Amino acid sequence: MASLTGRVALVTGGGRGIGRAIAGLIHAQGASLVIADSGTAIDGSGADPRVAEGAAAALGSRAAAFAESIASPSAAAAAVELAVKRFGGLDIVVNNAAIIRDAFIFKADAFAWDAVIRNNLTAPFHVLAAATPVLREQARAKRGGDPYGWGRIVNIVSSAGLYGNYGQAAYASAKAGLLGLTRVVALDMQRSLVTCNAVAPFAATRVTEAITPANEAQAQYKARALKVPAAPVAELVAWLAGPEAATVSGQLFGVRGREIFLFSQPRPAARLVSPGPAGLGAAIAQHLAPHYLELGTDLEAFGSEPIL
Ligand SMILES: NC(=O)c1ccc[n+]([C@@H]2O[C@H](COP(=O)([O-])OP(=O)(O)OC[C@H]3O[C@@H](n4cnc5c(N)ncnc54)[C@H](O)[C@@H]3O)[C@@H](O)[C@H]2O)c1
Repeated sequence: MASLTGRVALVTGGGRGIGRAIAGLIHAQGASLVIADSGTAIDGSGADPRVAEGAAAALGSRAAAFAESIASPSAAAAAVELAVKRFGGLDIVVNNAAIIRDAFIFKADAFAWDAVIRNNLTAPFHVLAAATPVLREQARAKRGGDPYGWGRIVNIVSSAGLYGNYGQAAYASAKAGLLGLTRVVALDMQRSLVTCNAVAPFAATRVTEAITPANEAQAQYKARALKVPAAPVAELVAWLAGPEAATVSGQLFGVRGREIFLFSQPRPAARLVSPGPAGLGAAIAQHLAPHYLELGTDLEAFGSEPIL
């Protein structure tokens, strides 16, 4: 289990839930790490430095706490600097921290939108803007050996950003944006042999516990979700951070208990050459309409009993 010996990781939101499981496993596999967690409430209000400090202290040596919110350029840069100064470099970045402020679009408020986009999409951008120059420099210096193979980025997204979900305009948009960022960073860092992948997790955390079911189907969904541990998400993230995944980049995975999914990513599903305005409706009906996706949420897509 020591496949990450010598590496240094930064895990945002590593003080609770899925991030804590990821931090713990990466650490157990030999990495040193910075746990960046502001100890905020699910909606992003408040802060508690004891969350990051407690998680780092529980791991002991090779773990440092960073308790400031990473949602600013200066804080993201400081978290990266802490990793470099304390542990001598930065090899693995996991953008996991997120908040939720839900409202139907017709009741949405711009302040909540800004807070969620800043926290869940702009913060990962700040972290990557600060971390990638370090990763590129280390790739040039062949940190960890020749050929270089240590640079890894994992962005934690959500099925809500892939399917959409009722009332999650800001959250789903941020997560869909994070998938776009994942693809771009995978391309931009390809020459440096740094990989960047996205993982959509399912796991029982305080967020799952806070779901208020609006109907029987949602109540069943919540009951199933509460059975799913975070450990398998950590196992996939640790694998992506490890030596076997050196050439895996730009991919979108999902993890629900022992099920691991590789998601498709939007590509043309059908094509027609327009016959002009007169025949457009008929041509769409013939060539595109059979391929339309139905409107549904992950509740329908992942409504089956999880395999634990
Ligand atoms: N739990 C699930 O089933 C599920 C499903 C889909 C996606 N996700 C995603 O998984 C990730 C982890 O979710 P979780 O359920 O473990 O949530 P959680 O609320 O239990 O943990 C998130 C942690 O991130 C920290 N955090 C939030 N904003 C921060 C900031 N700006 N700076 C520093 N720390 C910050 C919080 O303090 C918290 O400790 C999130 O990206 C979430 O969107 C979770």
